[in-house]
Amino acid sequence: MSATPEPTRRLTVTDIARLHADGTRIAMLTAYDFPTARLLDEAGIPLILVGDSLGEVMLGYDSTVRVTMAEMLHHTKAVVRGTERALIVGDMPFLTYATVDEALEHAGMFLQEGGAQAVKVEGGVRSAKIVEALVRSGIPVMGHIGWTPQAKHGMGGKVRVQGKSVEQARALLHDALAIQEAGAFSIVLELVPGQLAAAITERLRIPTIGIGAGAGCSGQVLVITDLLGLGSFVPRHARPYAHLREEILEAATKYAADVAAGTFPGPEETVRMDDIVLEEALGRGHLDRPADVVAGGIPLDRDL
Ligand code: KIV
Repeated sequence: MSATPEPTRRLTVTDIARLHADGTRIAMLTAYDFPTARLLDEAGIPLILVGDSLGEVMLGYDSTVRVTMAEMLHHTKAVVRGTERALIVGDMPFLTYATVDEALEHAGMFLQEGGAQAVKVEGGVRSAKIVEALVRSGIPVMGHIGWTPQAKHGMGGKVRVQGKSVEQARALLHDALAIQEAGAFSIVLELVPGQLAAAITERLRIPTIGIGAGAGCSGQVLVITDLLGLGSFVPRHARPYAHLREEILEAATKYAADVAAGTFPGPEETVRMDDIVLEEALGRGHLDRPADVVAGGIPLDRDL
């Protein structure tokens, strides 16, 4: 007798904690649209982040700072519609969580309107009160420390590995602990030296999700366009598992050549109709007399 398969259900932060407790390394990816989210869900990716990297990789902005709440919600809804199992994390855009009231309002929108199950907030000690208020209101939060793109103007503007000096390393450890104690269910470590990320991971109960932070984290996250090789360059920390940029370029070039040569569409991509019916429609059928051409046939422009 075969067991009835369990219906697919959405993962929760408790499932993520269980995966972590079991020693499973957690794979997170970003997604911004329905078809990609559907494929990632099918691939079994447990955590999908609708990152504000959306701004740079999908919308063509020069920085994540430009991304609005409306844009994030639009894309979060598409990702939620495309998934049944993955836990969806909505990335709180720049300045939407400057105060507790603003944070509650906007995080609430991610869950209520967007359909996400959690939000991500950048910042360590400076964001701990916000994280605490969100968690106390029942909103699961993922933290994000190290290189935090929304604060780039305050961090010298250039993307840089964080935590290389004694003071910076200590500050990052404090940040991580503050976010954990505020109740976050996990924390992204972005562009942190591998040994420091491993040391932070060892000291936390919650899983760390690394990006450019080495293999010592509890899990990893990649921006989907880096994973798929869709961007014009690959960041040092990323590994392209596909080369879609070349594939798309090749496909579009071949298509344009086939259209120009008249070889697309071919017979197999074309629907045919009964030739006799067409002859009749054009007024050239055996039943057509000259009067019928005007009554039922379709005259050519030049005959009008
Ligand atoms: O916006 C994003 O994609 C992110 C990840 C890089 C963690 O914040």
